Amino acid sequence: MSNNVNKNYTSQELKAMSNDELARLGTELDEVTVAYRKERFPIANDPAEKRAVTNVGFWFALAIVMALAFMAVYLFWPWEYKGLGEDGKWVYTFYTPLLGVTMGLSILSMAIGVVQYQKKFIPEEISVQRRHDGGSDEVDRATLVALLNDSWETSTLGRRKVLMGLMGTSAVLAGLAIIFPLGGMIKNPWKKKEGALDYNGDGTLWTSGWTQIEDGKKIYLGRDTSAIAEKHGEHYSTTGVTRLVRMRPEDLSAAAMETVFPLCEEDVNDGDSYDPKRDVYTMHMHSIHGPRNAVMLIRLRSEDAKKVIERENQEDFHYGDYYAYSKICTHIGCPTSLYEAQTNRILCPCHQSQFDALRYGKPLFGPAARALPQLPITVDEEGYLIAKGNFIEPVGPAFWERKS
Ligand code: FES
Repeated sequence: MSNNVNKNYTSQELKAMSNDELARLGTELDEVTVAYRKERFPIANDPAEKRAVTNVGFWFALAIVMALAFMAVYLFWPWEYKGLGEDGKWVYTFYTPLLGVTMGLSILSMAIGVVQYQKKFIPEEISVQRRHDGGSDEVDRATLVALLNDSWETSTLGRRKVLMGLMGTSAVLAGLAIIFPLGGMIKNPWKKKEGALDYNGDGTLWTSGWTQIEDGKKIYLGRDTSAIAEKHGEHYSTTGVTRLVRMRPEDLSAAAMETVFPLCEEDVNDGDSYDPKRDVYTMHMHSIHGPRNAVMLIRLRSEDAKKVIERENQEDFHYGDYYAYSKICTHIGCPTSLYEAQTNRILCPCHQSQFDALRYGKPLFGPAARALPQLPITVDEEGYLIAKGNFIEPVGPAFWERKS
């Protein structure tokens, strides 16, 4: 430091100084000049001070109430998806907005409370400090604590227990409101869900909607028609709306790719068996939303099909020139949506992994290290494409128990 303030104090002298004296000395040593300083409420029991306490307290109390409201909504509001026309749709619609409003108000109220506290209770002060080089001397370090003590004193927080309690509680609860939703992500990926297998598998990472074939079900390769619920007057109806339809080999031209989903026999509502009174829409949507269900059905050109190298134990998984690979990238699970027919490569747009459609979906480039699982397929007696069995390895990215 380059100022002329005496800093040659003995330990005894420093210990003998009051906090105020040490704080003033620290200010001088830091070359800080306090140009202006004014207490907000210099007179004790000023009614204006009480009004200020009420005002600031209101914002912290509101932050607490909103944080508690957020937790209550998160825990108790009906959150499960309701489709058009289903009971509870109206109430469900408010779930996300209420989470946003309560969390937003909690954080906003706390921020307003902090700003108000600073404006109403911290002394007005203008200080100027010059820069200096090098590290701090012993005396600087000794006075730092005194300065911090002084800040605590001048903040007046020490004697405002109610405000301090409200502030602390609101900070804790608003913080909890931010980390609370993470609880929804904590799931046990190895726990089977109650009930039978369905279009989401059994809840474990190694099952999918296609696994239902192991329950003896016949599963078609369902093409997504994008059909949506129909409006009848004020209401929507899903009766007779068929989202997934069965496919025949001739539905796909050579060098083309189609994304297909598992379609159980009992959920078929197309072709000759179409019934306008049946409602299969919800089941079809469950199939489409199943996290490991999407499969790429690729029809190779005949000349390309001759070059195919089959993987051991998967030699009969294809049907003629038709190959079905999981669409879930083996890197970190993006949809590998791009099929480049000239090179017969399948591209994942997330991190540019490329897979060879002529070599059992083997990775050729990019971060993916494993081949795309292949679904065994065939055609039934009516000429529809069906799964011949389940995947023989888990679909999607790596996880600890994976053996393939
Ligand atoms: S998720 Fe496909 S390359 Fe990363």
